[in-house]
Amino acid sequence: MIIGVDYYPEHWDKSLWKADADLMRESGVKIVRLAEFAWCRLEPQEGNFDFGWLDEIIGILSERDIKIVLCTPTNCPPMWFYEKYPDAVQTEKDGRKTNTGIRGHRCINNADFLRYAERIIDTMTKRYADNKAIIAWQIDNELEANFCFCETCIGKYRSWLKARYTTVEAVNKAYGNNMWSGEYSSWEQIKPPFGSYPDAWLNPSYMLDYNRYASDSVVEHINWQQELIRKNCPDTAITTNVWFCRNMPNFYDEFKKLDFISYDNYPTTRLPDNSEECYSHAFHLDLMRGVKRKGFWVMEQLSGGLGCWAPMGRTPSPGMIKGYSLQAFAHGADTVVHFRWRTAVSGAEMHWHGLIDHSNVPGRRFKEFSELCKEAAALEAVRNTEIRSDIAILYSPDDEYAFKIQPQTNGMYYMEQHFLLHSAFAKYGLNIDVISRLEDISRYKIVIAPQMYLTDEAVTKRLYEFTENGGTVVLTNRSGVKDENNKCIMEQLPTVYRKLVGAYVEEYDPIGYDTSSIRLTDGSIYKCRQWCDILCPETAETIAVYDEEFYKGKAAITRNSCGRGTAYYIGTVCEKKLYCKLAKDILLESGIPFVEGLPDNVEFTTRTGDGIIARFIFNNTSKNQHFTLDKEEISLAPFEMKIDIIGG
Ligand code: GLA
Ligand code: ZN
Repeated sequence: MIIGVDYYPEHWDKSLWKADADLMRESGVKIVRLAEFAWCRLEPQEGNFDFGWLDEIIGILSERDIKIVLCTPTNCPPMWFYEKYPDAVQTEKDGRKTNTGIRGHRCINNADFLRYAERIIDTMTKRYADNKAIIAWQIDNELEANFCFCETCIGKYRSWLKARYTTVEAVNKAYGNNMWSGEYSSWEQIKPPFGSYPDAWLNPSYMLDYNRYASDSVVEHINWQQELIRKNCPDTAITTNVWFCRNMPNFYDEFKKLDFISYDNYPTTRLPDNSEECYSHAFHLDLMRGVKRKGFWVMEQLSGGLGCWAPMGRTPSPGMIKGYSLQAFAHGADTVVHFRWRTAVSGAEMHWHGLIDHSNVPGRRFKEFSELCKEAAALEAVRNTEIRSDIAILYSPDDEYAFKIQPQTNGMYYMEQHFLLHSAFAKYGLNIDVISRLEDISRYKIVIAPQMYLTDEAVTKRLYEFTENGGTVVLTNRSGVKDENNKCIMEQLPTVYRKLVGAYVEEYDPIGYDTSSIRLTDGSIYKCRQWCDILCPETAETIAVYDEEFYKGKAAITRNSCGRGTAYYIGTVCEKKLYCKLAKDILLESGIPFVEGLPDNVEFTTRTGDGIIARFIFNNTSKNQHFTLDKEEISLAPFEMKIDIIGG
C-alpha cells in the first residue's frame, strides 16, 4: 500500500527541495502530488511558460524513486489573466463578481478561461507525456457544482433546461409552477436562484433541478479536461479529488469517465464527548469505494490540526495520523496522500497544519507518519484484495440535494440515518457497501434504503424484486414522499412502497428537537427524536409502538413478509442501540455470519483476494480497548489498527 504527500515546491526556497526529497525517501514516501495551484509560476506572463522549476523538482523526486501526480492548475488562474478578462471571475448570487486573490473562483464556462485553460493543459500534458515518473493526472482541485450566476452560466442553465424539457410548458408542469403565479411563458423568464431568500422559499422542484444542472455543468468541465489530458497522455490515469462540500456534485456522474476516485479525508480531531455520536469516516470511505465499486485513493489526508477559515482545532492525538490512514486502507483505499508535507508560512491556509510544522523541525506527527509509511509498505500483499459485502446502503445525491433544499424538521439531515444504520451493522464486524440508489442490488442479501425521498420507477421496481426474491430491505421515514421532480405524491405514505412495507402512514409528527420513546414487543423502551410516522400495519407485523403522545400504542416500526423476503420500516429516528438490536435480528434472520463483542467505535473490516484475507480491527476511540472476539483476546491502544493477514 502506498503513502504519499501533497507538496508545494513553489512555496519554498529551492535550497529546501533536495533535503525535503531526501527526507521523503528516507521516511518511505512513494508519491508526491504537485502543481494544482501553481498557474502563476507555470505561466508568469501571458503565453510565457516556465516549466523549468517543475522539471527540476520532478527530476529531484524521481531520482529518489518517488512517483508524481501532476495537477492541471486551473483552480486559480493568474492575476494577469483576471486583469485582462475581469468577466472570467464567478458571479455570486447577488449578481456581484467574486474577489480575485482567492481560489476556485473562475467561471468554468467562461470562454476566455476555457481558452487559457486549454492552452496550459495542452502545453503541460505535451511536455510531460513521456515522463514515466508521472503516474496520474488530477483535474483541478475539489471542483464543486457550478453555482456561478454570470450571463454565460445563465445561458448554459437555460440550454440544460431546454434539452431536458423542450418547452416551457413542460417545465411548468414538472415544477407545478401555478403556485404563486410562477408559470413561465418564455425561456428568458427562467433565472438562476438569485437573491437573498433562503432556498426553502423557492420552488423545491426548481431548486432540485438547479442543483442537478450545477452538477452537470461541472461534470461537463471535468469531462472536457479529461479529453484534453487523454489526447496527449492516453496511458496515464486521470482523477479529480472530491470532498463532502456544500455544493456537492453528483459523484457517480463526476467519475464516470475518470480512472479512479480520489477523496480528501479529514476526520475530526476533536474527540466526541458523547458516546452516542457516531463516527462518519467509515461511512464516507465506504461511499467513496462504492462510487466506482473499486479501490480508491485518498488524495489529501489529515496530517495536523486544522484551521484557516475556522479557528484552529485540536492537533491529531497520538495514533490518529497512522490510524486514520490505515482505516482508509481498511475500507478499500490503495493509496493515501497526506496534506501537506509542511505547513504553509503564508497565505490563508498557514494554520492548516501539515506533517511538519512552521519550524521545519519534524516532530511527533512526522515520526508517526514515518512509521505509517513502513507499515503501509509491509501491506503489499493486501494491494490486490477487494472488499466483499452482503450488505448495501443506498445513497442518492438527488435526495441529499432535496433535503438541503427543504430540511424536514429540526435536527434532521439526509445522512444521519445512513450513519446510524451503517454503524449498527458495522458493529457486527461486517463490510458494508454504500452504493448509488441506481445500482443493481441483486447480489446483496440486505439492502438498507434510508429516506428514499424522491421516487424513481426503476429503483422502486428493483427494491420489490429484490425483496420478493428473498432479500431483506430496511426502509425508513421520509420514503416515497416525492416524485422525481420533488413534488409531493398524492397518496398515503410511503406511497410507492406501501405494499412492500405492508403498512401506511396515517399521520406524521415532525417532533424535531423534542424527544419521545418507543416500546418493543419485549417491553424494552428506546428514545426517539426528530420524526414520528404513525403507522397502520396492513400485512405487516408491529415490531415497536410509540410509548408517548396521542399516538401511544400505535406502530412505529414494522416488519412485512413480501414474496420470499422481508421489508422493515422504521418510522422514527432512534438512539443507536435500537439500530444495533434490529441489525442483529436482521442478521440472524438472513443467515449472514457475524461477530459479537466489538466495543462501540471499534471497527472490523476484511479485504479478500486470491487465497488471502486481511482483517483490519481499528480502535476509533481515545481509550484503550480490551475485548474478546471469537475467543481471541484483543487489546488496542487509542486509534491503534490491528491487521492480520491470513494466507497470501
Ligand atoms: C482542501 C483543499 C486543499 C486545502 C485543504 C485544507 O482539501 O483541497 O487545497 O485547502 O482543504 O484546507
Ligand atoms: Zn459563470
